[in-house]
Amino acid sequence: MKDFADYTPGARKPDPSTPSDHLAIRPAAPPDLPKIAAIAALREKEPVHEWRSVIERIHAQALRGRALLLVAENAGEVAGFGKVGYFAPPLASPENVSPTGWYLTGVVVSPAHRRRGLGLMLTMARLDWIAERSHEAFYFANAHNRASIDLHHAVGFEELTRDFYHPNVRFEGGSGILFRCKLSVKRPERPAKRIERMP
Ligand SMILES: CC(C)(COP(=O)(O)OP(=O)(O)OC[C@H]1O[C@@H](n2cnc3c(N)ncnc32)[C@H](O)[C@@H]1OP(=O)(O)O)[C@@H](O)C(=O)NCCC(=O)NCCS
Repeated sequence: MKDFADYTPGARKPDPSTPSDHLAIRPAAPPDLPKIAAIAALREKEPVHEWRSVIERIHAQALRGRALLLVAENAGEVAGFGKVGYFAPPLASPENVSPTGWYLTGVVVSPAHRRRGLGLMLTMARLDWIAERSHEAFYFANAHNRASIDLHHAVGFEELTRDFYHPNVRFEGGSGILFRCKLSVKRPERPAKRIERMP
């Protein structure tokens, strides 16, 4: 089973050891890729070498503007990452295939760095990037992943449907929910002190 954070609404604690100006979001660079792969592999409980090639491929797409790969830093340490990808339904897809567009395709913050706002910062930075390209963004989640659903709800995602097909995606132990965020709607002020310029 994948790692879902335990659902603990309202449990955020102030963390004096890491003031918020130690938190930063920036595009991934080549030295980050093994660290991102390690975080992803730990979360998915899959071999790290498989994730290295996935992350290297996404980074290559990002360099061509076809994807986005961001890292979150806490006091200079890579603490998490967030991805964006473009989806267009393949020919002969079923009628309930998920829509064409830009998707938030994953956000993971290492357990030791959670609940400091990095997941939210990664999500807002990715939405800012998509907003320069589209008026909407999509994301899907396992219906059991309530921490993720609350996080995305906070930035404006609303449920579209639970009846959708997305190639190669299965939802362990439950159903999936497809969400959309309209990007013309003003989102809450970003909490980040420092989000570096995106490409
Ligand atoms: C989901 C995840 C990315 C959140 O990262 P994070 O840095 O801890 O999140 P933030 O500190 O930015 O939290 C922002 C808001 O999201 C919600 N949230 C985050 N974690 C939560 C939790 N464990 N329980 C309930 N709500 C949670 C809260 O509304 C939170 O605001 P608050 O702290 O003021 O209450 C992280 O728990 C994670 O990596 N989980 C495993 C991977 C995953 O499920 N990714 C999402 C699907 S791809």
